[in-house]
Amino acid sequence: MAHDEDELQGTDFGEGAPSEELREGVPLLGHAAGEAVVLVRHGAGFFAVGATCTHYSTPLAGGIVADGALRCPLHHACFDLSTGEALRAPAFGPVACYDVEVRDGRVRVGARKPEPAVRTREAAGPASVVIVGAGAAAYAAADTLWREGFKGTVTLLGAEETGPVDRPNLSKEYLTGDAPEEWMPLAMPAAIDVRTGSRVARIDASGKRALLADGSTVSWDALLLATGVEVVKLDVPGSDLPHVHTLRTLADGKAIALGAGKAKRAVVVGAGFIGLEAAASLRKLGVAVDVVAPGPPFEKVLGPEVGAFLKRLHEEHGVVFHLGESVASISMTAVRLKSGAELPADLVVVGIGVRPATGLAESAGLRTDRGILVDERLETSVKGIFAAGDVARWNDPRFGGTIRVEHWVVAERMGAAAARAILGRPEAFRDVPFFWSAHYDVFLAYVGHAERWDRIDVHGSLASKDATLAYRKDGLTLAVVTIGRDRIGLEAELAFERGDRAALDAFGRTR
Ligand SMILES: Cc1cc2nc3c(=O)[nH]c(=O)nc-3n(C[C@H](O)[C@H](O)[C@H](O)COP(=O)(O)OP(=O)(O)OC[C@H]3O[C@@H](n4cnc5c(N)ncnc54)[C@H](O)[C@@H]3O)c2cc1C
Ligand code: FES
Repeated sequence: MAHDEDELQGTDFGEGAPSEELREGVPLLGHAAGEAVVLVRHGAGFFAVGATCTHYSTPLAGGIVADGALRCPLHHACFDLSTGEALRAPAFGPVACYDVEVRDGRVRVGARKPEPAVRTREAAGPASVVIVGAGAAAYAAADTLWREGFKGTVTLLGAEETGPVDRPNLSKEYLTGDAPEEWMPLAMPAAIDVRTGSRVARIDASGKRALLADGSTVSWDALLLATGVEVVKLDVPGSDLPHVHTLRTLADGKAIALGAGKAKRAVVVGAGFIGLEAAASLRKLGVAVDVVAPGPPFEKVLGPEVGAFLKRLHEEHGVVFHLGESVASISMTAVRLKSGAELPADLVVVGIGVRPATGLAESAGLRTDRGILVDERLETSVKGIFAAGDVARWNDPRFGGTIRVEHWVVAERMGAAAARAILGRPEAFRDVPFFWSAHYDVFLAYVGHAERWDRIDVHGSLASKDATLAYRKDGLTLAVVTIGRDRIGLEAELAFERGDRAALDAFGRTR
């Protein structure tokens, strides 16, 4: 994208930058031919790519460089420095990439290279792929099959009335009105046959057919189950009233946004990520918010330090917590708690948990255990049937055995990896789990996976919104959380990938 000359910052790389100004792996922001560019010295070479991430337009100059790629500091997308190609979700489109010339000790950025070609490789693989689900994993799988040049048919069967949407945004900018609805759909390649409103009732594993709720069938040569999770419903009198909502689909998001436009007081039931992100967005809209939950927020997932910090943050923004409480009933004007207290409410958002949508897999005889079990290529116990995303459980010894993760980037990376496995690539899925959560002005990044720990080390200050926390068990680092330190989060991801124990030990202690 061409930029207004006034917006361009830093060195004019068309004129050239002294090579000694460029330090190994440190992106330098500048511009060339009217476009914002980052210039990178890496190994023996110099590389120039577009300055903003193709996911959410974050400046890439704050990222890190490793193994020939530049990583985005916000949600850890990864771009090939030589081609601009998006190597890892959550970005799919390439960044611009430029010719670079070194002459007389100056590094000059020249012409923009052509975009990396799609479908140049005639990818082999089965004749037809069916994907059940229309979420993050399904989207990434379909997009990857297309980018890899798969020539067979790809049919995506999703129960929702929409194709894949940017689900994390439902509790954030979409709810506050900062992200308009046209930003929500994920751009699906035209070659993919997306069938919305198509619930699969059963899969016939030996006959290789999906049987839809409307009675039709779709046959496959390879199947990907990307069914995600089912939302746990609140089962109390009044929970089916029209102002009571869970939040998973775009339709849910629309209903809550509509309700928030008219509401004065909301009750959020549950103090997990979705409930409290929705609470923050509702406060931004000026709606009074009470949160009802059985215990302190986030303690089980993030420990007492981060839990107390986020609770205080929400209280500073006017949220009132009712902890050690649960809902007895809901009327059109109030939520009654088991303690007898009554909270006035004209909007109720329920976020009390989810469970993996394993029904199709179980009835087809696939191996399950709190998720669909997959091997390192994401194949289930039945050959030719793969699973990815929130529903899948895989073995990662780095994080203590089999794990199932309910986060966006992991689901997309699994979807992409499953697509490559379907094409016959013999790669093991080894991506390090990563997620983010946003509350007011606080952006939290989590790398790794710690279900239990015996020690949390904290470096910096949570009160100043500038901290690293490391979660350890038996001396091993299982997860690193950063607040206000996005670059350190990226470095932690790299340290996990490389199994660099000394680097991992330093997080939460010296950095
Ligand atoms: C409001 C909200 C905010 C979030 N925020 C964040 C965040 O900030 N950071 C983060 O990392 N993660 C976040 N997440 C989690 C993230 O969205 C999920 O991890 C991700 O969507 C999982 O992708 P998936 O493809 O496994 O499942 P999903 O995206 O849930 O997709 C599953 C799909 O399968 C379909 N399906 C299920 N059964 C059938 C069937 N029988 N037939 C046909 N279709 C079926 C469903 O309708 C759905 O379309 C958030 C989630 C929500 C709801
Ligand atoms: S903005 Fe770069 S990964 Fe999201």
